[in-house]
Amino acid sequence: MEVVIVPDAKAGGALIAEAIAALLSRKPDALLGVATGSTPLPVYEALAARVRSGALDASRARICQLDEYVGLPADHPESYRSTVLRQVVEPLGLTESSFMGPDGNAEDVQGACDAYDRALAEAGGVDLQLLGIGTDGHIGFNEPCSSLASRTRIKTLTEQTRQDNARFFAGIDEVPHHVITQGIGTILEARHLVLLATGAGKAEAVARSVEGPVSALVPASALQLHPHATVVVDEAAASRLKLADYFRATYAAKPAWQGL
Ligand code: PGA
Repeated sequence: MEVVIVPDAKAGGALIAEAIAALLSRKPDALLGVATGSTPLPVYEALAARVRSGALDASRARICQLDEYVGLPADHPESYRSTVLRQVVEPLGLTESSFMGPDGNAEDVQGACDAYDRALAEAGGVDLQLLGIGTDGHIGFNEPCSSLASRTRIKTLTEQTRQDNARFFAGIDEVPHHVITQGIGTILEARHLVLLATGAGKAEAVARSVEGPVSALVPASALQLHPHATVVVDEAAASRLKLADYFRATYAAKPAWQGL
């Protein structure tokens, strides 16, 4: 696992946008797995700025969702479908036809989850999956004790996560209890995992994921099992890492042409 410590969230966004731009120049129709929440916004802003300036042609990119609330109407502004369309698909000049996500309103929820796993595989697999991390160490909505081999399925949110997400809704009572999330096993199939964490609130979860044992108790620790996982953290989120100086030195010595 490579850990890159950046000064702040904006620098993290710029660095990851550069890696995505490099991927799209190698593979213009790459399948990009995107995440929701506040953390990835600097990535999307940096990507959109590249598209606006003409520095990046993302017109053939394909976008897929990591997770979705169950039971929110698809056009609800806080459904992850609406969120990804608003934050990623539209600013990159893409259309809904380049976008795929699980159906959070399917009558047969598990059938919809299985169909989404199949659709990802049929699309050739995810080239780069962007991830945030929950304060409890979740990735996607794989809460603690999710199987490290799990596939896309329905999960119940912890109270902690519902509280963390209440800021997007009128109040905690409006936050759905259930979600569909790519499983940890599904996420690990992406060719490159890029986790971004910013702020002191994530420092403990980052340290446990990067330096702790691989454990279902800390779902993001599963990144240790992936051959190409990059963790980009700002100084605050890096503040509990024992090996921070080692990570800084290793990254500083890396040839620039290698990218992330
Ligand atoms: P956040 O959410 O980016 O809004 O902190 C991260 C997550 O829950 O994965």
